[in-house]
Amino acid sequence: MSVSKREYKRVTTKSLVDMKGQGEKISMLTAYDYTMAKIVDGAGIDVILVGDSASNVMAGHETTLPITLDQMIYHASSVVKAIERSLVVVDLPFGTYQSDPKEALRSAIRIMKESGAHAVKLEGGKEIKESIKRILNAGIPVMGHLGLTPQSIYKFGTYTVRAKEEKEAEQLKEDAKMLERIGCFGVVLEKIPASLAREVAESVSIPIIGIGAGKHVDGQVLVLHDMLGMTHEFNPRFLRRYLNLYEDMTKAISTYVSDVKAIKFPSDKEQY
Ligand code: KIV
Repeated sequence: MSVSKREYKRVTTKSLVDMKGQGEKISMLTAYDYTMAKIVDGAGIDVILVGDSASNVMAGHETTLPITLDQMIYHASSVVKAIERSLVVVDLPFGTYQSDPKEALRSAIRIMKESGAHAVKLEGGKEIKESIKRILNAGIPVMGHLGLTPQSIYKFGTYTVRAKEEKEAEQLKEDAKMLERIGCFGVVLEKIPASLAREVAESVSIPIIGIGAGKHVDGQVLVLHDMLGMTHEFNPRFLRRYLNLYEDMTKAISTYVSDVKAIKFPSDKEQY
């Protein structure tokens, strides 16, 4: 299908809804630091997610649970400095919005005020509805996240595909509609059957961004370090690696080590 692509000088939450309306797919990637964010923004990505996957990718934790609000703000403010065009969405980390709506609002305000980001993302459906409403009422754009929600990994017990059973699928569809109704500007659907993701995308007017949710959604998101092939132990079916930086970087660094040892670096030209 050929799609007319409008130029967006700056991507806003409204641009994303317009893109869905016009059938233009939305591109989204994570970034956690200035240098990577500058490359991603310059390459034309629509949305940069400062994901709590920073907990795994940047800090080396096994799950997304340990990352703190201060650490998310640090990553987000580094990303925001690099951005000219993309919309920057920041994850509210585990433990900063689940206990009560006032705390959720305080956490979201800190992210917006201290990092300069444009929106926040929260994991969950009806159980966090009041927190989302409170944040939206303060004028902060919210993106939802349903399906596999990694902050609940100890409840699920595994990272396998979610909502294969009818009961969970029905709840997910209800949650997506509720998120649209209360005013979220978009929803991430993670690791659910493609047919269910399609049904959800067709049933709401806000953009549905998939990760492991098939192609019949309004956009795609991947973790930057995974799609660049910097990580190599994580191999889910949905991941396409566009580079193999793990290998390229390992080769470059081991060549540097050999050059230093053999006094091949620096050369005469590389000194003063
Ligand atoms: O934290 C993250 O990177 C995410 C994406 C996987 C959607 O939430």
